[in-house]
Amino acid sequence: MSPVYKKLREKNKQYIWHPFTQMKDYLESEPIIIKQGEGITLIDVDGNRFYDGVSSIWLNVHGHNNGEINQAIIEQLKKISHSTLLGQANVPSILLAEKIINITPNNLTKVFYSDSGSEAVEIGLKIAYQYWNLKGQDKKKSFIAMTNAYHGDTIGATSVGGMDLFHATYRELLFKTYRSSYPDIYRFDGSEEECCTDCLNKLEELIKSKHEEIAGLIVEPIVQGAAGMIMMPNGFMKQLESICKSHNILLLADEVATGFGRTGKMFACDHENIKPDIMMVAKGLTGGYLPLAATLTTEEIYSAFLGDYSEQKTFFHGHSYTGNQLGCAAAIANINLFEKNNLIDTLLEKSLLISKLLNGLNHHPHVGDVRITGMMTGIELVKNKASKQPYRWEEKMGIKVCDESKNLGMIIRPLGNVVVFMPPLVSTNEELADMISILITAIRNVCE
Ligand SMILES: Cc1ncc(COP(=O)(O)O)c(C=O)c1O
Repeated sequence: MSPVYKKLREKNKQYIWHPFTQMKDYLESEPIIIKQGEGITLIDVDGNRFYDGVSSIWLNVHGHNNGEINQAIIEQLKKISHSTLLGQANVPSILLAEKIINITPNNLTKVFYSDSGSEAVEIGLKIAYQYWNLKGQDKKKSFIAMTNAYHGDTIGATSVGGMDLFHATYRELLFKTYRSSYPDIYRFDGSEEECCTDCLNKLEELIKSKHEEIAGLIVEPIVQGAAGMIMMPNGFMKQLESICKSHNILLLADEVATGFGRTGKMFACDHENIKPDIMMVAKGLTGGYLPLAATLTTEEIYSAFLGDYSEQKTFFHGHSYTGNQLGCAAAIANINLFEKNNLIDTLLEKSLLISKLLNGLNHHPHVGDVRITGMMTGIELVKNKASKQPYRWEEKMGIKVCDESKNLGMIIRPLGNVVVFMPPLVSTNEELADMISILITAIRNVCE
């Protein structure tokens, strides 16, 4: 190892507090330091190459170091990197807003920018809350969120989150949220239909008693990501939409993870022609290049905020980097590449290939479930398949499989006992086959 990189390793451990990481374990490990990216590959400071099997946390679309996205950022850089969007505009943010509106459900007409998925959620919640206030329905102050939901790590997003591991510590800091069950068929002892009916009946009951105080229902449509890649049964999302509409409750679709092709359609809402009142996008918006997010709303919601300044209807929210030109330029190039390469049309075949290649794992004694939607895959590891007995969290099975995968040349990250495989959308059939072979070997080496 060169002395320069040795120093870098020491400084990493000396200065950085890493996200979602037990630093005691981290300090005892030999962490990878990435120097470069090429296509779907990450290269570390020692020259080792790894497949980016989790798209750098569900972001990357067209691969790293893509010439067209790089060029778009460079061109913008030569003009200006950032000027504020508070009360003034900039060129790429306008062009991007039009593009976003053209590809999202057609009832959405306005774009409010921010910098991360969590902020986009925060903004969606605040808009929904203020909307009802402005409409004179000021009792509508609460939200319904799903069991095991994950919407980000800021306080509002954590309040609607339902994952005890991440959220329980902060409970006393959070606002009260009602819970509805996400149809987790793997954990339900019955048929898929019964599972859905059970969830929907409970939701209707909740809404009947509380609808006067409910501002909105927030959901990760089609795939609940951080909960462990839980896939919604067909038709469930449509029923949620219909319940919200018939009870005057805003539907907030968190497409931060599912948006931009991840589920095989441009947006998860497209699977069932869902028209949310508010939609949040981030992650894949810039192809995974720069931090940019957006909260989209209908004309009805937007116009409720219009009025004389003295009426105090303004949405007083904004971040310093809102509408950043470099991010917007990257996002425009990202959407152009989707169109130029007909990327969405290639995803069904890739998803079927992933299914086929992983099929053998269904018979593995320690694989309880293999869940795949589009380019999102979760493999649930279990101690006992027949009884669905999970591994204890202390056994760190997900972590061990991901460590083994790294040794074999692919970076992935687990969600507890669920091994997540989420390659960049641009991965070729050959690359997918290679990555899945690593994945299967890692699971076998650790679990057998
Ligand atoms: C559904 C969902 N919403 C929100 C977020 C938060 O996004 P960010 O990490 O950009 O704040 C995530 C992140 O994984 C997510 O999966």
